[in-house]
Amino acid sequence: MKYRSIKGVQDILPPETYLWQHVEQTAKEVFSLYGFKEIRTPILEFTELFIRGIGETTDIVEKEMYTFLDRAGRSLTMRPEGTASVVRAYIQHSLNQLPPPQKFYYVGPMFRYERPQKGRLRQFHQTGVEVFGVEAPEVDAELIEMLVMFLKRIGLDGLSVEVNSIGCSKCRPAYREQLIEYLKMGVSGLCSDCQRRYNQNPLRVLDCKVPSCKEYVKGAPVILDFLCDDCRTHFRGVQDALSRLGISYKVNAEMVRGLDYYTRTTFEVTSTSLGAQNAVAAGGRYDRLVEEFGGPPTPAVGFAIGMERLIALLKDKMEIADRGPQITFVSIGERARELAFELLSRVRRQGISADMDLRSASVKSQMRRADKLGSRAVVIIGEDEIERGVFKFKDMKSSEEQEVTEEGLIGFLKDFFGGNG
Ligand code: HAM
Repeated sequence: MKYRSIKGVQDILPPETYLWQHVEQTAKEVFSLYGFKEIRTPILEFTELFIRGIGETTDIVEKEMYTFLDRAGRSLTMRPEGTASVVRAYIQHSLNQLPPPQKFYYVGPMFRYERPQKGRLRQFHQTGVEVFGVEAPEVDAELIEMLVMFLKRIGLDGLSVEVNSIGCSKCRPAYREQLIEYLKMGVSGLCSDCQRRYNQNPLRVLDCKVPSCKEYVKGAPVILDFLCDDCRTHFRGVQDALSRLGISYKVNAEMVRGLDYYTRTTFEVTSTSLGAQNAVAAGGRYDRLVEEFGGPPTPAVGFAIGMERLIALLKDKMEIADRGPQITFVSIGERARELAFELLSRVRRQGISADMDLRSASVKSQMRRADKLGSRAVVIIGEDEIERGVFKFKDMKSSEEQEVTEEGLIGFLKDFFGGNG
């Protein structure tokens, strides 16, 4: 074969696309119950946006971005995530003028140059949400509730919600010092990236994917023990609100998340069948990012769902039915073929999905094709039928046949599909 898709970059084919449509539609329905509106940001942004937003010493920025110079020599990056772009758009278009909280959702491809493996791709899709303007811990809990509602509605169970708080600029410095002290003792055993960044950004050592680093940080101090009063109260508030909403959760004091913009609440939803490392969805608060990007001080919180991981879980559970046309025209002879071609268009204009084989194949092969496509019914038109102005209608489910007049065809089909869909 001459051309193949790029490693870690997938085609999504029918009938799996039905599943994607179903999941995206359900997400939109659930999110709109909570007042979210769709935002579409570009795939390309200035590289600087992600360096500043996600953090210079994160894995994403250090090793995973698709970055290139455009023809004018500007450094551009294909978005590795959605939050930085939404924050940029929020400031650029003064979306803070809308009454707070301002709530947005997005759906689209993201790009990270990771080592492709199960649940890890180079082009993957996220459905994400971001809420701006409210600091109250109920917002965090409500977001987690919405995520759980969505995941349940599409039929997932066996999910576990983990939450943590990673503090703020007030409480982090003391923790940072302690962490550096701890890391210093074992620094020679850390990977070269972590040896470099343990001083610069020690929190990033905590989410390093290298097994020896992972093992070592198991004994590290946890930020939860260092929270300032405000952060502690906030985290307590998140947990109380989750309990009031009836959401089961676990506190995972070791969860730090791999992006630098987080403050306070972080959370992940994992599924036992994907393996603990592979979160289906993850998010958190980022109360400083809007300001860091030059906007007014604005608390914010959000999450993103990894669509491929979600679809993989769903595919294991449900069979995807391919959807055939409602009606297939089968024609015998040139005159019938011409008439069927016109009827095809008339039927479609009535909102009924219709199809015919335009290759002038035999009746037998046309019938076989209709059957294979899963056509709900067939209309057969031959010379004789044209003369008499009466067509043969076959219900492919019951195999019952009946005659329908040419003038009555559209009305008949509308009645039939009105009842049999
Ligand atoms: P993230 O944890 O980097 O967070 O990604 C969120 C989700 O995207 C992951 O839990 C996972 O399901 C999926 N994902 C990430 N990388 C890959 C990959 N290479 N292949 C397949 N799926 C992947 C963010 O992106 C934040 N922007 C989330 C957020 C929104 N925080 C606040 N607002």
